[in-house]
Amino acid sequence: MIATPLVALVIATLSLGAHGRRTTIVPKPNFVPLRPAPSTSSLQLTLALPPTNIDGLHAALYDVSDPKSPNYGKHLSKAEVEAFVAPKPDSVKAVTDWLTQHSLRPEAVSPSGDMLRIDIPVSKANSLLGANFTEFKNKDSGTTLVRTLSVTIPDDLEPHLQFIYPTTQFIVPLKPENPTFQVVNPPKLSRKRQSMPEQCAFEVFPECLQDLYHIPTAPATASGNSLGVSGYLSEFASTDDLDIFFDAFRPDVTTAPEFDVVSVDNGVTSGDGTLEASLDIQYTVGVATGVPTTFYSNGNPFADGFIDMVNFLLAQDELPLVLTTSYGFDEASFLGAEDLANTFCNAYAQLGARGTSVFFCSGDNGVYSFSFNSLCDATTFGATFPSTCPFLTSVGGTQNIPEVAASFSGGGFSNIFAQPDYQSAAVEGYLDALGSTNDGLFNRTGRAFPDVSAQSVNFITRINGTFGLVLGTSASTPTFASVVALLNDARLNAGKSPLGFINPLLYSQGACALNDITNGSNPGCGAQGFPTMEGWDPVTGLGTPDYEKLLALVTGL
Ligand SMILES: *[C@@H]1O[C@H](CO)[C@@H](O)[C@H](O)[C@H]1NC(C)=O
Ligand SMILES: *[C@@H]1O[C@H](CO)[C@@H](O)[C@H](O)[C@H]1NC(C)=O
Ligand SMILES: *[C@@H]1O[C@H](CO)[C@@H](O)[C@H](O)[C@H]1NC(C)=O
Ligand SMILES: *[C@@H]1O[C@H](CO)[C@@H](O)[C@H](O)[C@H]1NC(C)=O
Repeated sequence: MIATPLVALVIATLSLGAHGRRTTIVPKPNFVPLRPAPSTSSLQLTLALPPTNIDGLHAALYDVSDPKSPNYGKHLSKAEVEAFVAPKPDSVKAVTDWLTQHSLRPEAVSPSGDMLRIDIPVSKANSLLGANFTEFKNKDSGTTLVRTLSVTIPDDLEPHLQFIYPTTQFIVPLKPENPTFQVVNPPKLSRKRQSMPEQCAFEVFPECLQDLYHIPTAPATASGNSLGVSGYLSEFASTDDLDIFFDAFRPDVTTAPEFDVVSVDNGVTSGDGTLEASLDIQYTVGVATGVPTTFYSNGNPFADGFIDMVNFLLAQDELPLVLTTSYGFDEASFLGAEDLANTFCNAYAQLGARGTSVFFCSGDNGVYSFSFNSLCDATTFGATFPSTCPFLTSVGGTQNIPEVAASFSGGGFSNIFAQPDYQSAAVEGYLDALGSTNDGLFNRTGRAFPDVSAQSVNFITRINGTFGLVLGTSASTPTFASVVALLNDARLNAGKSPLGFINPLLYSQGACALNDITNGSNPGCGAQGFPTMEGWDPVTGLGTPDYEKLLALVTGL
């Protein structure tokens, strides 16, 4: 953990007065109050201070990511990024003075200091914030959260505090995309490589992806290349499973496969292999041959885990050049907590500005995105967060050869984030062709997702000693990320920058280097969902990768 104590030198006496900004939310139907939170139990609160110049960060991100810009690929340094997001000194002073006055010692938990953290007993949090912290049970997941329906912040702090988390934010805890698992015997492969083994029709293994997407099998060679896999919920990938997976499916690789493990928030660093982590590691290490890979293991299933993960990464001098994450939230959880969603999204923008390509899965429940969504009534399409953040790349799913959309592929439109310019022409083309289909069920002005897709069904994975078939955008996301890690290898070997945030490139010039998927749709919860069409669609995005075409594109930049 990065936790820099902030020394508050000035102890000012603030007049609290009777007034303050009171935020009250209506109780969420999917959360049931159980009992008052025990007054002596401890709460860990994160306080977010407004960034100095967030528009500047976004402009800088686009400037280095737009292939037409003279600054394309000139990624920002850690210090340059932090200068955009660091809070103003008067905000730091106002907030630390307020906390110090209440004998609280905040720690900075982000490298730019835009997030502070305090540990505080419930009784004190209730009096400090005029709150009534209560245990609520989430009906869908069964998890209990300690939250309050209202908080009061002193008036004079209002311009200096974006949010305090967790207070009124009812974010359903993280769940894996829950890829399904079916035990199988691995296919007997001929030791001699064939082009597209016939088994690929039923089971996907690295050779199928290499053949279908023209992915090179030779190990990457560039120094400084890297690929990060983030894992949550105590998931772990075992080296024994990976070794056996390589014996079966990468007999061409003579060196033992390996990956590093880094623990964040007490994430596990050893143990038996579990489904999601094994899939993510086998389809990064097994596809991005030779690219140094790190598994970031996070032990916190709540939104705090996501906050800590991205702050942990932002504190590093050297970032992974590609980051893949197969976990997400129902975006509807963040309605009423848009500040929190924006802060996450801006953290991914910081990674992109520094040159990391960030990938998130688009979800496995079609237009409803999450089965946790209790609004599963075919009146409003759902969305998956962080996939709806415009500053990262969302990956949907396909299946079969020739490829068609996987019907579970999450896709649609954000209700929180506006549509970024880089995708407006592609989305407008789709919406024109769609006509009045699904009218009123989705937000036409929202950020549309996914951006791209890849195979996502019947991935053979070795999990805790057993081979099984796994399905989900959890499979497509590491696959696409691995293709980009190999493209980075070629870029680095040519003395060029890593690709960083790739959406502006993909939407402007990349479509012809992707396989457009035009068959299938993503129904969900009793609704038809969106049909795929020529060009971008909210099921498979711009399409699946063709490494050779992408290579020609990215080495010509
Ligand atoms: C605080 O919340 C509890 C439920 O945990 C409720 O019974 C109680 O009435 C609330 N107190 C106030 C002052 O609102
Ligand atoms: C639609 O999305 C925009 C962001 O583009 C948001 O501001 C607006 O509130 C959304 N509308 C609804 C009805 O959710
Ligand atoms: C892994 O398999 C062993 C032996 O079958 C079993 O005891 C253990 O519980 C399994 N671990 C997990 C995480 O499922
Ligand atoms: C779409 O894919 C299905 C298989 O999923 C196939 O049966 C059908 O012929 C395809 N349609 C077109 C127009 O290619």
